Amino acid sequence: MFYNGAMSLDRDLHVAIVAAWARSRGRPGSAWEMLGATGVRGLRVLVESGGIDRLVSTDAGGPASHVLAENVRRYSDRGATSQQWDARRPVPGGPFDHVDLDPFGSPLPFLDAAFDSLAHDGLLSVTATDLIVLAGVDRAATRRRYDANPVQGRLGPEGGLRILLRTLSDRAAARGRGIRPLVCYVRDHYIRVYVGVGSVDGAPPVGTIDPLDWDGPPFRSAGPVGPMWVGPLFDGELVAGLSVPSAAANAAALDRLLSRFREETVADVPFYYEPNLIARDARLASPPPSEWFVSTLRAQGHPTGRTHARDGAFRTRAGRELVYAAARSHGGAGDTSATARSRSPDDPNPSPR
Ligand SMILES: C[S@@+](CC[C@H](N)C(=O)[O-])C[C@H]1O[C@@H](n2cnc3c(N)ncnc32)[C@H](O)[C@@H]1O
Repeated sequence: MFYNGAMSLDRDLHVAIVAAWARSRGRPGSAWEMLGATGVRGLRVLVESGGIDRLVSTDAGGPASHVLAENVRRYSDRGATSQQWDARRPVPGGPFDHVDLDPFGSPLPFLDAAFDSLAHDGLLSVTATDLIVLAGVDRAATRRRYDANPVQGRLGPEGGLRILLRTLSDRAAARGRGIRPLVCYVRDHYIRVYVGVGSVDGAPPVGTIDPLDWDGPPFRSAGPVGPMWVGPLFDGELVAGLSVPSAAANAAALDRLLSRFREETVADVPFYYEPNLIARDARLASPPPSEWFVSTLRAQGHPTGRTHARDGAFRTRAGRELVYAAARSHGGAGDTSATARSRSPDDPNPSPR
């Protein structure tokens, strides 16, 4: 029976998001936890968020499937039921206001059942741990499975997040619906997205990025990437309303993560800069700290904020020339043998110097 204690912060966040989502819609809703395992995720959201009034938790089962049934039975008076069920098919009892999809590996086999079971204006949450594919370690597999060219290198996980969002956007569009990202992030070994699924509001922000015609952070791999989601990852209003649940297992860590998300919503643009890479490209003796970039670029009128995606990195609405010009204005400029040596002579995507 699968139980991953390392995901408890992620479950704390799930509780916080469902609480804020239910507050914003003015009422609790029903939920299907497609891949329940022990049921810990769905039950915590049911009991702690105040946003769910009926939960169906399913798992394909196995030798320890009685654990899910026993755990869920304890909360039957709160509206919880469980079933042994193959989640590649919609479970009876839908549509549900919230559907959670938390697989080992790729969510692809379960997406149709998830979309077909979600009520209009519902909340869909999806985990993907197939980062080898989504983050471009195996490019051929990304093309085959997700029909996209991945971003390789350090920006690969965010590229994977955006490829996953485009996949969700396509599945929604096939049903005459659109997605609205609420909270979408990368952590350690996985990607996790929370999206609202409802009426279509114009063409979705999906596109291919050609590194040679791109004013954002330099990609360190060659060739166009995508198609991928190039719109926001966060809903600023929902993120502003997120708070640490009283029963959170990791209150301090969640508080830090939420404040990073809030900072990030001011410059919610694709991909982030890393000061050490800027210093290397611009041949600075030492990288200015990310806090310095944030305050300097903000003072110039460009929304900028640190990102959850990598410590020490930041997103900005300033173009690349401005970011590098700011870096060069910081003390410490000058060609050094160390930074010059560390620059790859065949970097396919050179940055302004
Ligand atoms: C990563 S675990 C779920 C973890 C759980 N959500 C949590 O927070 O602890 C994935 C689960 O999916 C179940 N599973 C795999 N294939 C399935 C299928 N086709 N239908 C239903 N459950 C399935 C496995 O038995 C496993 O318990």
